[in-house]
Amino acid sequence: MKFIALTVGALVAPCLGLLRFPCAQLVIDRLDPLVSPGEVPSPHLHQIVGGTSFNATMHPSKDMPAESTCTTCQFSEDFSNYWTAVLYFKARNGTYKRVPQIQNVGFDGVEGGMTVYYMQDGLYNYNQTSKVTAFQPGFRMFIGDVNARSREQMERYRQVTYTCLQTDITRDPQILDFPSEPCPEGIMTALRFPTCWDGKNLDSPDHMEHMAYPESGTFETGGPCPDSHPVRMANSSGTVAGSRMLNLDLVTDMFLCTQFYEVVWDTRSFNNAEDWPEDGSQPFVWSFGDATGYGNHGDYVFGWQGDALQRALDHPCYINCETLKTQDAAAMNACGIGRTVKEDIDGWTETLPGGAVAGM
Ligand SMILES: *[C@@H]1O[C@H](CO)[C@@H](O)[C@H](O)[C@H]1NC(C)=O
Ligand SMILES: *[C@@H]1O[C@H](CO)[C@@H](O)[C@H](O)[C@H]1NC(C)=O
Ligand SMILES: *[C@@H]1O[C@H](CO)[C@@H](O)[C@H](O)[C@H]1NC(C)=O
Ligand SMILES: *[C@@H]1O[C@H](CO)[C@@H](O)[C@H](O)[C@H]1NC(C)=O
Repeated sequence: MKFIALTVGALVAPCLGLLRFPCAQLVIDRLDPLVSPGEVPSPHLHQIVGGTSFNATMHPSKDMPAESTCTTCQFSEDFSNYWTAVLYFKARNGTYKRVPQIQNVGFDGVEGGMTVYYMQDGLYNYNQTSKVTAFQPGFRMFIGDVNARSREQMERYRQVTYTCLQTDITRDPQILDFPSEPCPEGIMTALRFPTCWDGKNLDSPDHMEHMAYPESGTFETGGPCPDSHPVRMANSSGTVAGSRMLNLDLVTDMFLCTQFYEVVWDTRSFNNAEDWPEDGSQPFVWSFGDATGYGNHGDYVFGWQGDALQRALDHPCYINCETLKTQDAAAMNACGIGRTVKEDIDGWTETLPGGAVAGM
C-alpha cells in the first residue's frame, strides 16, 4: 500500500481526525497475558506499552484504569496495553543481542515503545468524520500467527508488514518478511488489525475469530465486511461498532499520517556486512525464533478510562487532541513497571530468552 507523500511538506500537512500517539516502553518481559494467561514466564519475550495494571493474568473483568497508577502513552487516559514480540540480532558466532526500539520522528524524547493509531476512515480520507462507538472494557484482539513461516501463511493477515528504512521517512515498499539487506535507518514493522467485528463478542478463544478483514481489499479501500462480521468498525453510524482501526507501528523513526501500530527497530548498530551471515541470509530473528519474519504478531487489550476514547472519536484530532488529557515525554518515560521474569535480555546471550532457537 502507499503512504501519504513523504516529502517534507507532508510532515506539516494536516492529517485531521487521526488519533496517532507515541507510547514509551512500559516493560520488556516474558509475559503474554492474552495467549498464555497466568504463565510466568511465557514462552517468549515481549515489549509492552500502556497502563501499569499490566500483569501475567489480565482477567477480562480487570479494571485497568483503576488499577493503573500511570500510563506510558501520550494520552494519559489510555491505560490499554499494546504489545509485540522483540527483535534480536544473531551474530556470526551464534550469540544474540536485543535490538532496541526508537520512536517515530516528531516524538523525540519518548523512550522505546511504539506509535499507536486509531482511525475512523481510511488512510486517504482526511475528513475522519464517520461516527463510531469505541471499544468496550474487556475488548481484546490479536493479529498474526506465531507459527507462520511462509508467505502464504502470512498473507492471511493482509497488513502486517516490514519497511526497510533507507531514511527515517521511508514508507515503501512494504514487505511481509525480514528485509534481506541492511536498512540504514532501521526496520519499521506495522501491524494493522482487522476492522470488521462480529458485533457480539469482546474476545474469542484465538482472540481473532470475533474480528475479520473486509471481504475484499482493505480497510482503506473501503472493502465490504463479510456477513459473519458485519460491523465495519469504521462505518457504524453510532450503532454498535467500535473504533475503526488500530495500528501499531514498531519503527525506528518517524512517519506521518498512516493508520496502525508502528514499531521502529533501531538496527543501525547491526548493519556491518562483516557481522552478517556468510551464507548471505539476514541476521534478525524474533524472540520466538522466527528468522523469516512471517511470524510477526501483535496484541491489544482495551483499557481507556471512562468515555475518553469515545470523546476522541467524536472529536477526532491529530496530535493535539483537545478532548483528551495528554502528558509529556518525561512523564511517559517515568511511568513503567519492573520486570517479573529476571533474566538477561540485554547482553550477548547464547540463547534467546526462554531458549527459542533461531530458524525454528
Ligand atoms: C494480576 O492482577 C490481578 C488484579 O487485577 C491479581 O488478582 C492477579 O493475581 C495478578 N496476577 C499476577 C500473576 O500477578
Ligand atoms: C560474538 O559476536 C559479537 C558481535 O561481534 C561480540 O560482541 C561478542 O563478544 C561475541 N561473543 C563471543 C562469545 O565471542
Ligand atoms: C472530505 O470532505 C469534503 C468536504 O465535505 C468532501 O468534498 C470530500 O469528498 C471528503 N473526502 C472524502 C475522502 O470523503
Ligand atoms: C456503511 O455506510 C453506508 C452509508 O451510510 C451504508 O450504506 C452501508 O450499509 C454501511 N456499511 C456497513 C457495513 O455498515
